[in-house]
Amino acid sequence: MSGHIPVMLDEVLTALAPRDGGVYLDGTFGGGGYAGAILERANCTLWAIDRDPEAIARGASLAGRFPGRLHLLHGEFGDMAGLLAQAGVSQLDGVVLDLGVSSFQLDDPGRGFSFRHDGPLDMRMGKHGTSAADLVNTLPERELADVLYELGEERASRRVAHAIVAARQEAPIETTGRLAEIIRSVLPPDRSGNHPATRSFQALRIKVNDELRQVEDALAQAAGLLAPGGRLVVVSFHSLEDRIVKRFMGEAAGRAGAPSRHDPAGLVARDAPDFRLLTGRALRPGEVETTENPRSRSARLRALERLGKGRDT
Ligand SMILES: C[S@@+](CC[C@H](N)C(=O)[O-])C[C@H]1O[C@@H](n2cnc3c(N)ncnc32)[C@H](O)[C@@H]1O
Repeated sequence: MSGHIPVMLDEVLTALAPRDGGVYLDGTFGGGGYAGAILERANCTLWAIDRDPEAIARGASLAGRFPGRLHLLHGEFGDMAGLLAQAGVSQLDGVVLDLGVSSFQLDDPGRGFSFRHDGPLDMRMGKHGTSAADLVNTLPERELADVLYELGEERASRRVAHAIVAARQEAPIETTGRLAEIIRSVLPPDRSGNHPATRSFQALRIKVNDELRQVEDALAQAAGLLAPGGRLVVVSFHSLEDRIVKRFMGEAAGRAGAPSRHDPAGLVARDAPDFRLLTGRALRPGEVETTENPRSRSARLRALERLGKGRDT
């Protein structure tokens, strides 16, 4: 199985700007690509979270290369404040999140994330709880259509949900291959060249792993953990996540959101913001990177800094 190529690594390091003596969190350890580079860049301490027990097990060798500097925590980044508090950490100089799944997960047919390989219809990053097969075999048709529409932006969601419900009456849908074929049979070929099941697979993965709520919880906690001068760097891969990150960072940095119902003209002065945006627009990967690593194509990087004087080291 191939490894995971870290996406926008140079841009992540520039935005995070790790420094000697700093304490950082990588909330999505994955293959440890960011983690290793951060530890090499500065003589800092890095806490790393992943909800996938396989990622944490793989990280042991990297922890061995940086004795006493890399600490791996198994759990969800939506619980980062609690996980760090248990470890006695209450403040950070930087947090990085690289959302979504790793190539280790995507390329392992046994994990059931991809229609490119036939395997059990699973998609659980943390290997527990409700699987994608549970969802497609039990959700009422209407609810299934809503999931596909809202989380996959699948415009033919009702048609797809109807086909899934008809198929599961014949026999439970247990494999990625069967689900992909059911979807393909009712959708025309995608003009973009993507498999017509792409959007539905994305929707199911987001639902199975409660990804949007995880991101919302993580952003709020990360901002609360940052020391003055501390930075939050987020790489996202689809518009639903990026929208959440963009809005959160904009509001934290005092960019006016929608006008308040009680103050439509924005006449009431706002408090001075505690954060500043480091990225006006989201950064995108360069052409060389997208050619060498097509999975980076949809990446967007946004970063935020807590204002105030940084900690002395
Ligand atoms: C894109 S990969 C990260 C790759 C990593 N930056 C690298 O360079 O190797 C995302 C990782 O985050 C983990 N992950 C996704 N959502 C998570 C969550 N809510 N809590 C903890 N880990 C999560 C996945 O299990 C996966 O291993």
